[in-house]
Amino acid sequence: MSLYDNPAFLRGYRELRRTGRGINDALEIPAMNAALRAGPEGLLVEGARVVDLGCGEGGLAVRLAAAGAVEVVAVDASEQMLAAAEHHPRVSYVRADLADFDLPPGSVDLVVSSMALHYVEDFDGLVGRVAGWLTGGGAFVFTIEHPVMTAPFVAEDCVVDDYADEGRRERSWFVDGVVKYHRTIGSIVATLRRHGFRLEIVDEPLPTREQVAAHPHLAIHRRRPPILLVSACSVPAGDRVVHEPLELLTGNIGGADEEDRRGTG
Ligand SMILES: C[S@@+](CC[C@H](N)C(=O)[O-])C[C@H]1O[C@@H](n2cnc3c(N)ncnc32)[C@H](O)[C@@H]1O
Repeated sequence: MSLYDNPAFLRGYRELRRTGRGINDALEIPAMNAALRAGPEGLLVEGARVVDLGCGEGGLAVRLAAAGAVEVVAVDASEQMLAAAEHHPRVSYVRADLADFDLPPGSVDLVVSSMALHYVEDFDGLVGRVAGWLTGGGAFVFTIEHPVMTAPFVAEDCVVDDYADEGRRERSWFVDGVVKYHRTIGSIVATLRRHGFRLEIVDEPLPTREQVAAHPHLAIHRRRPPILLVSACSVPAGDRVVHEPLELLTGNIGGADEEDRRGTG
């Protein structure tokens, strides 16, 4: 059963979204809207064939259709989320697991995802499929829970730990045993580059001091970033530069000895 079909979880999640006390209304939705307006030719959405991965109740999918997308395929694994989804004549909802959802090659101009991909175990496999669906020059824009949030095996707010150990994490969030997958920012970027994407935006939406003054519950999100936003462009196959893996950060930098690499400041 999908986590989002667990009645206790869904009750908690919906209450959070209804009250607007989460990060979605204040941070994630404005950041996603801004990223979608920031394409090289302005709005990425106008006339686009779009896929929304982990669409939930369809808020983003409907916004994109209303903004001029010709077609939005909105995918989610949760029966309950899809049952509550908003209708729009250019949005079609598909119940599927992102682990095996697939589309014909070159059939999509824009792939979006809001706060869902940290639930996906095989990010590399998904990015490879997204790269195949997109037309050359198509965009992949997504937000995830920030890696400093997913990192600790035992989550205590404001403590970043276990950052280098990628993989499965269990959290208590409305219910026990919520499974998420931690990846470092470096490996997210490397995965995208390996599949022919060029990074356009890497951002960490944070509340302003004014937002915190008006909504004090947001203060915690100035202490550590809650969201990572990435916008990447699919480089047409003929124009791709093959990137060797970046070894600089983990390898021996120009023969520096251990003392040099540890640094002093
Ligand atoms: C935090 S909600 C975000 C919903 C929506 N994108 C939004 O921003 O309002 C995460 C969504 O991802 C979906 N999801 C999580 N893992 C999934 C998977 N493996 N396949 C399909 N959907 C998944 C959940 O069912 C849920 O609707």
